[in-house]
Amino acid sequence: MKLVFATHNPNKLKEIQAIVPDYITLVSLKDIGCFEDIPETANTLQGNAKLKADHITNNYNLPCFADDTGLLVNALNGEPGVYSARYAGEENDANANMDKLLKNLSNKIDRSASFKTSIALNINEDTLYFNGFVAGQITETKNGEKGFGYDPIFMPNGYEQTFAQLPLEIKNQISHRGKAFLKLITYLKTLNVNI
Ligand code: IMP
Repeated sequence: MKLVFATHNPNKLKEIQAIVPDYITLVSLKDIGCFEDIPETANTLQGNAKLKADHITNNYNLPCFADDTGLLVNALNGEPGVYSARYAGEENDANANMDKLLKNLSNKIDRSASFKTSIALNINEDTLYFNGFVAGQITETKNGEKGFGYDPIFMPNGYEQTFAQLPLEIKNQISHRGKAFLKLITYLKTLNVNI
């Protein structure tokens, strides 16, 4: 079964390809010739995931899933949340986003936070949702070179390293997106289709 992953982010594609079984043909937006910006104007993660999946299903007539993720910091009332990509401006500059977050947290004692991912899957004229969550702490400084986004300042509970220091296989096992994608894959395996 050909399934579109509606992302322009090569890091995410790499993460997911590592856990998708070989018998699912995962195709990217580039593979289907989709280069336009897909609107993400909803105010929930679930709403944005659905907007992206619907864009592909409606315009390309293919089964598709899309994800949307936010980092929710408790001491900041859930900021940056749905605005995680553009927290410090429209450029989606990971360093600027992290700097802003570290500054806003500098006088806070509670540094607890969580990543949440919502996936919308459009298949058989229906939309299904799969969610994943990981709790952790925002570190005082940036540590590590791997990953992307807020990885250098997010230390998952139970670990002494940030997501940017942990091997990708570990991140995939415990991360918001890894968990949401496992649920998606478990569901796909139950479908009575030729995959
Ligand atoms: P998206 O919805 O997956 O594009 O995520 C929105 C923003 O959240 C990204 O631009 C990153 O800043 C951040 N983000 C998403 N996933 C991760 C992750 O696994 N690690 C660190 N930051 C992430």
